[in-house]
Amino acid sequence: MEGFDSQLKEQLSLLEQQGLHRSLRMVESIHGTLITIAGRELINFSSNDYLGLASHPAIAEAMGKGARRWGAGSTASRLICGNTAEHAALEEELAAAKGTEASLVFSTGVAAATGTIPALVGKKDVIIMDKLAHACLIDGARASGATLRVFPHNDLEKLESHLRWAREKHPAITGARVMVITESVFSMDGDLAPLREIVELKVRYGAILFLDEAHAVGVRGTRAQGLAGELGLGDQVEIQMGTLGKALGVSGGFIAGSRVLIDFLINRARSFIFSTSPSPAVADACRASLRIVQSTEGNVLRADLQKNLRLFTSEMKLSNSPSAIIPLILGSEERAMQETTRLQKAGFFIPAIRYPTVPRNTARLRITLSSAHKPEQIRGLAAALKGSV
Ligand SMILES: Cc1ncc(COP(=O)(O)O)c(C=O)c1O
Repeated sequence: MEGFDSQLKEQLSLLEQQGLHRSLRMVESIHGTLITIAGRELINFSSNDYLGLASHPAIAEAMGKGARRWGAGSTASRLICGNTAEHAALEEELAAAKGTEASLVFSTGVAAATGTIPALVGKKDVIIMDKLAHACLIDGARASGATLRVFPHNDLEKLESHLRWAREKHPAITGARVMVITESVFSMDGDLAPLREIVELKVRYGAILFLDEAHAVGVRGTRAQGLAGELGLGDQVEIQMGTLGKALGVSGGFIAGSRVLIDFLINRARSFIFSTSPSPAVADACRASLRIVQSTEGNVLRADLQKNLRLFTSEMKLSNSPSAIIPLILGSEERAMQETTRLQKAGFFIPAIRYPTVPRNTARLRITLSSAHKPEQIRGLAAALKGSV
């Protein structure tokens, strides 16, 4: 016991020396754009609550009503006795919003990725993935045992050369699958994948596409379409992943696609099969959120978010952002930490994002905007940032 603990202590102090040690901070309250930490109320520019729905009264009410009807928990996995009409309705509504035949809900986005990828590809297959893909996509790819090739971020030439190589080594006639994996809105950089071109390439080389729309659902396109739907490419993306804990403000992840894909995942996605299903109350909250996202109110929230993005980028003299995520890359871990502390003193909450979440020497402030931010909060942040970047 003691030897084990002292080994861990040594490893932790190494992280500390490298400026990479992490610890939990206690949030005392969070509501809309305001967060209280260590007794201080700060303006929050770090959440993924892009439409301010995490504190929407109708969604909280749906969750409460669901809990009163069903209880707090689902009691078991979906395949045992944890499958309710609420789960089924949510999946039908998500599929309708995405324009696919079906969808499948997981307890988190991480579970959706780490369960789905290894269910669909294995040792005889190839995965070709963007270098900046989220950790859960990397974990899913590694767990699959497929040969993994990585292309530099959004580099279509390199993607094509990997596709060519994959198809020479693993011709379609052998039944081998080639899966391209990318995000549509990149979580730490806020830029978009060149989706039309990627779709065109994967079609040309007989590959399939796994598209993580975690930061696009509810923000890009109308309704909960994401980027694939916005560009009219939904029917050409075999596996569309989304999350329910970012713009939708609740929690969970999902895969949308063909009916047969979803039936296959019900049989083979281990993180779905062997995990307690999300509580029916969570499904009810997600349904309420999805209704708002698809309504006139949702359109207004998206328009407000765009207005806020335009205000911030013009104050900062940056080009317009295609997403609600604006990274200010500062380089060293220390510099990013200093900036975080300085901004916190000025009343703004923006934690530094460091390695291993982002590549070394690209530590950054990941600023996220929400439809709920007030113009004076945004102007205040821009003023506080002047001189730091
Ligand atoms: C791109 C991307 N995919 C997947 C996830 C995981 O989603 P969840 O938080 O629902 O597990 C995240 C979460 O930050 C993400 O940024």
